[in-house]
Amino acid sequence: MAEKARLKKILPPKELVGEVSVPGDKSISHRALIFNSLALGSSKISNFSPGRDCLSTINCLRALGVRFTRQEGKPTAMLVHGVGNTGLTEAKNILNAGNSATTMRLLSGVLAVKPFLSIFTGDISLRSRPMKRLIEPLRLMGAEIYGRGEDSFAPLVIRGKRLHGVTYSLPVPSAQIKSAILLAGLFADGSTAIEEPQHSRDHTERLLKRMGAKLESDNSHIFLTPLTAPLTSVDLCVPGDISSAAYWLVAGAIHPNAKIKIANCGVNPTRTGIIDALLAMGAKLKIENQRLEGNEPLADLYVESSRLKAIEISGDIIPRLIDEIPLLAVAACVAQGDTLIKEAGELRVKESDRIKTTARELSRLGANIEESSDGMIIHGGRLLLGAEVRSHFDHRLAMSLAVAGLVAKGSTLIHNAGVAEISYPDFWEEMEKLAR
Ligand code: S3P
Repeated sequence: MAEKARLKKILPPKELVGEVSVPGDKSISHRALIFNSLALGSSKISNFSPGRDCLSTINCLRALGVRFTRQEGKPTAMLVHGVGNTGLTEAKNILNAGNSATTMRLLSGVLAVKPFLSIFTGDISLRSRPMKRLIEPLRLMGAEIYGRGEDSFAPLVIRGKRLHGVTYSLPVPSAQIKSAILLAGLFADGSTAIEEPQHSRDHTERLLKRMGAKLESDNSHIFLTPLTAPLTSVDLCVPGDISSAAYWLVAGAIHPNAKIKIANCGVNPTRTGIIDALLAMGAKLKIENQRLEGNEPLADLYVESSRLKAIEISGDIIPRLIDEIPLLAVAACVAQGDTLIKEAGELRVKESDRIKTTARELSRLGANIEESSDGMIIHGGRLLLGAEVRSHFDHRLAMSLAVAGLVAKGSTLIHNAGVAEISYPDFWEEMEKLAR
C-alpha cells in the first residue's frame, strides 16, 4: 500500500454539503457472489462492493472453479457463471480469505459438504478470530473441519463429506455462522433448524428464498429443507451499504454546518440500528423514497447538523448496529450526556478488539471513555482535539476516526488509514467531495 494511502490528515471543514455515493452492501455482495456460484446458469450482479473483502470471496470462488466475467467499463458489475450443486472443484492451493470473516465462514459451510480437501487461511486479524463457533455446529452435522490450537483459529482444514441436517441453537447471534450452517444444510441429508438468541442480519434468508430454497423464517427461527434442484440464479443490483452510509449519517449529524444526501441505501430492518440510534439521539435524519430491490428494501437518506443527546444502547438493537458501534462512540463523544453501550461483547472479536481500540484511539482525541467487559461509557459534550491516531488495521475504526477528525479542533493524523479499502475504497474521495 502506498505511503500516501497509509497516512491521512483530516482538517475540520467549514461545511459538509452534498450528495455522497456509497458502495454496494458488502454482506449482500458476498452472498450474491457465493449463492449465484452455486446456482445453475449465469447471473449479472451490479453495484457489488468493490472492497477488498468481496475480492477475497471472488478469488476463493475462482480457485474453486467458478468463472466470473467483468462487465466492460463497469468495475462493480460482474457475470457469475454458476456451477450448480456439484460443479465446485478442489482448489490447487490454500484458499486465502484475507481480512474477510464472511468469506471464510460462509465458504467453510459450503466446503464442508463438498467431496474434496480445502485449506483456508487469512491475514493476521482473521487468523485470530474465533472459528470454534463455526466448527462446532458443522461438526454436529458430521463435518470434518479442524482449526489451529484449542480455540480453533484459522488456518482451517476441511475434508468435505456428506452431512446431515441439524437442529442448532446459536449461543451468540451471528449472521455468518447462521449462513454457514444454512449453506451446509442446503446440500445435507435431512432438514436443518436454527434458533438465534437475537435476530441478526437476514440477507442469506432473503436471497436463498428468492433463489428457490425451501426456507421458512421468523425473527428467531429458521427451518430449511435441502435442495432437490439447484438454486436458480438471479440478476441483482446490490443496494448501497448502510454500514458505509453510516459514516456520513454521523458526520452530518455532528458537524455544525452539514447537509448530506445518500441515495439508494439499503434499509433492511436487521441493519438499521444506526438510524434508530441516531434518531433516538435527536438526529435530523429523514428516510425517503422507500422501495424494494429484489427483496431487499432501500431508500434515500438525508441528514443535517443536529444537537445530539446521550442514549443507552443495549439488547436487541446490538446485532442491528454491531459494525457501527465505533462510529456511534464518535457521535456519543459529541452528544450531551453519558452514553452507555452494553451487551456488545462481540466487539472484542471483530477485525480488532473494537472496545479497546475505539476507547484508546478516541481518548487520544480527548474523548472521555470508560471501557467495560461488554461495552463502554462515553462521557459526552467534549470538544475533540486533533491528534495522531492509529487504525489498528481495522477499516471501520479508520473511517470512524476520520469522522471524528471532521469535528476535532486542529489536524488529525490517521496511521494505516488505507485499510478503509476493505469495505469502502472511495471513502477519502467522497469525504473530499463533501468538505468545503
Ligand atoms: C456479517 C455479519 C456480522 C458483521 C460482519 C458481517 C455478515 O458478523 O459484524 O461485519 O456479512 O454476515 P457476525 O456474523 O459475527 O455477527
